[in-house]
Amino acid sequence: MALYSEKVMDHFRNPRNVGIIEDADGVGEVGNARCGDIMKVYLKIEDDIITDVKFETFGCGSAIASSSMATELIKGKPVSEAMRLTNKAVAEALDGLPDYKMHCSVLAEEAIRGALEDYYNKHPEKKKGGIA
Ligand code: FES
Repeated sequence: MALYSEKVMDHFRNPRNVGIIEDADGVGEVGNARCGDIMKVYLKIEDDIITDVKFETFGCGSAIASSSMATELIKGKPVSEAMRLTNKAVAEALDGLPDYKMHCSVLAEEAIRGALEDYYNKHPEKKKGGIA
């Protein structure tokens, strides 16, 4: 069996949603101290729906594939749903990651959660119905 699934290779080679959003409503940046990889996620939110999402990832192929898939999974979704996105769901949507690469999908979960927390910090009035 190949080490990486076709989906991982596809999202690594053709990552979706790469870039930045200048006037983002929420920005989250996380890093992994052990491997040194960094991920930044930008969100545009209207009426509690994620209308746009972009990412920049300075990291390994699995981190790039995870950010690409994670952003696809939350695009067009309510904030409350994005808040519940787990790294496991990202890895499953990629048809799996090797065990020692699971931490790469954790970065995606944390970057999105960080961006949502940034959004709530800027818009505390939106918190109702968001973070449980
Ligand atoms: Fe660190 Fe992939 S090796 S995020």
